[in-house]
Amino acid sequence: MNILERKNNIIKRLLFKKNITSNEAKFLLDKIDFDLKSYNNEKNKTLLVTGGAGFIGSNFIQYWLKKYPKDKIINLDKLTYAGNLENLKKIENNSNYKFIKGDICNRKLVNILMKHVNLVVNFAAETHVDRSVLSSEEFVRTNVEGTRNLLEAAKNNGNVRFHHISTDEVFGHLSLNDLAFTEKTAYDPRSPYSASKASSDHLVRAYYYTYKLPITISNCSNNYGPYQFPEKLIPLFVTNLIEGKKVPIYGNGQNIRDWIHVNDHNEGVDAVIHKGRIGETYCLGGGNELTNMQITMTILDEMGFGEEKIEYIKDRPGHDFRYAIDYSKAKNELGWKPKISFEQGIQNTIKWLINNQNWWRKIKSGKYQDYYKKNYSNK
Ligand code: NAD
Ligand code: TYD
Repeated sequence: MNILERKNNIIKRLLFKKNITSNEAKFLLDKIDFDLKSYNNEKNKTLLVTGGAGFIGSNFIQYWLKKYPKDKIINLDKLTYAGNLENLKKIENNSNYKFIKGDICNRKLVNILMKHVNLVVNFAAETHVDRSVLSSEEFVRTNVEGTRNLLEAAKNNGNVRFHHISTDEVFGHLSLNDLAFTEKTAYDPRSPYSASKASSDHLVRAYYYTYKLPITISNCSNNYGPYQFPEKLIPLFVTNLIEGKKVPIYGNGQNIRDWIHVNDHNEGVDAVIHKGRIGETYCLGGGNELTNMQITMTILDEMGFGEEKIEYIKDRPGHDFRYAIDYSKAKNELGWKPKISFEQGIQNTIKWLINNQNWWRKIKSGKYQDYYKKNYSNK
């Protein structure tokens, strides 16, 4: 083995180590084949994308590298059950992209990375409401403590520009007659997941007011599209049907969500990063309010099944009734609006899941089954 091969082997081993030390991170960064610092200028950015191996983050990285091919991206992801490097196969060899396996709570690692970037986009989070009902511990650790750790490092390394990805769930829930959420709606989170995201949003704003950290926040509604982990409503139902199983509807199926295609969300994030005012929050939504029953019937119709495939199960505790977003601020200030109709988006997503069965079958055959049993048995 020559020296180069030996070095490459060490790098590979480090990349897959659970906890990376600061010296190891330094070694890795030295070996990265692009000079990160030289890109710290206004024209070309070096991004630290956290949680980039998850659903929205992996779509974001693909979108960004295509649109801004001169920018550099470091993807920091812990690879929890929801992180999957297969989501990034298409760009893994792009010389402007680097993956580092690590935790946003790791202070040393985050501090080192922060010295090399000029924009953070924070997707990393525990994201599934049902899992937060089973245990809230990781939600507080990653979503609250992890975000605080990133903010602190951004502050201590020259006030790095910080965009925080959040959710409409921080606003609580609506009844049928309520007006949609806006940036002025008071926070009223009702699940451990939304409470942890609300807490992280407050910290992000606190770093702006207290330390002048240049932040923005986007609060988006329910996403769907390729690479969504099959625990969430749409990919769970489509993949269950392909497997010959039933689809489990909580309660009576009348709960409402405002669905947005992940590409529209990521265009919105891009617009906030480039045109948003520092310190501001922007609500992003799909303008597609649908009941879970409407979503289910659409999926059943598209896939040639009928109502016999529905299984009504015990409702989620504290199940939020309705979410809806008024995205006028983003539309008026940033010129952004969602472009993909739900009809077109859901057809493409179903097709994607039919054509990419290797991707989700691997996931569903692993540890996922323990979670499925815990969440769905005896209901
Ligand atoms: P996801 O669960 O698919 O992915 C989360 C990613 O974060 C995974 O790759 C995971 O490995 C990584 N991660 C978790 N803990 C980490 C840690 N401690 N350190 C580093 N990486 C860690 O989530 P998603 O659906 O892509 O959501 C991304 C972001 O968007 C989240 O902040 C979420 O709150 C927000 N959001 C999601 C939706 C939605 O409908 N999915 C809607 C609005 C906002
Ligand atoms: P989900 O995709 O978990 O997103 P969120 O809870 O963050 O909105 O759920 C979307 C809706 O679908 C929500 O009202 C709960 C409902 N749901 C079911 O009825 N059955 C299921 O198995 C799942 C996962 C969700």
